[in-house]
Amino acid sequence: MKGTICVFGSFNVDITVHLPRFPHPGESLIAYRSFVGAGGKGANQAVAAARAGAKVHYIGKIGNDGFSEFARNTLRDSEIDTCTLFESEEKATGKALVYVSDDNAENMVAVDLGANVTFTEAEVNSCQSIVDSSDILLLQLETNPEAIVQLLRYAHEQEIFVILNPAPYQPVPDRYLAMADLITPNATEAALLTTTKVRCPASAQQAAADLHDRGVENVLITLGSSGALLSRSGKTTYIPVYPAAPKDTTGAGDAFNGAFAAALARKKSLPEATLFASAYASLCVENAGTASSMPYLAEVLERMEKHRAIHV
Ligand code: RIB
Repeated sequence: MKGTICVFGSFNVDITVHLPRFPHPGESLIAYRSFVGAGGKGANQAVAAARAGAKVHYIGKIGNDGFSEFARNTLRDSEIDTCTLFESEEKATGKALVYVSDDNAENMVAVDLGANVTFTEAEVNSCQSIVDSSDILLLQLETNPEAIVQLLRYAHEQEIFVILNPAPYQPVPDRYLAMADLITPNATEAALLTTTKVRCPASAQQAAADLHDRGVENVLITLGSSGALLSRSGKTTYIPVYPAAPKDTTGAGDAFNGAFAAALARKKSLPEATLFASAYASLCVENAGTASSMPYLAEVLERMEKHRAIHV
């Protein structure tokens, strides 16, 4: 069965440079490679979910500028099934400057969200029927908070399963966090959402306990190369990381979230979906780029099969 996912979130044009290391403040450093591609946490997660086998409807907002056509064309040519793209007359299409360093394939990102933070109440209302026909609503925090809360509240009332990826971190009142069926912070976001320094599965468990106390039922904390911790009302499952040869870690969290939602939409259990997402993200970091670097289902199943012995 092909489950349906609605992804509401940002579209950015990512301008990426690959460097031997990050520049120091005030330093100009020569990149050996650069490219322009589709990005934004919303669009990246939508592409990941679609390539991971789900039926996806993406809702985003762009500007009316030189990058609008690029946005429309790349989304049209992507594996996303259907899109609702609003257009702002006042703000430009979102843009992100991405540095990828050869040291650990780490990244630094600066984002100008532009049109992404201009969703109006009427625009969000017009998306209700899309949410109604979805199994899952997948949200991040790169659009305007009022719009996120409006859609989150609506989906919650309609009993649609909501996954909230609280990235990039912004404070979210507990009553809204608790409306999500599951939240997926990384270690940094989990630390900012709680008072716990999250460094390992044990500290992630503490952060998850804090979030449960505040009304969040399911918490999935990604720990980078240390795997992921899934906590369902306090019942904990640790999912180890798949071996990978990273080239570019940008969008790894988006890969994880999109794949996780896709697996859930295919009626996999939460631990099974987490394992699938972990394998998916391990492949994503081996490719350069963001939306374009999302792997396809067949490659992921192959990796899972290859490492089956260590992940049973
Ligand atoms: O998570 C990676 C994404 O963050 C990039 O594509 C960039 O656009 C920023 O939104």
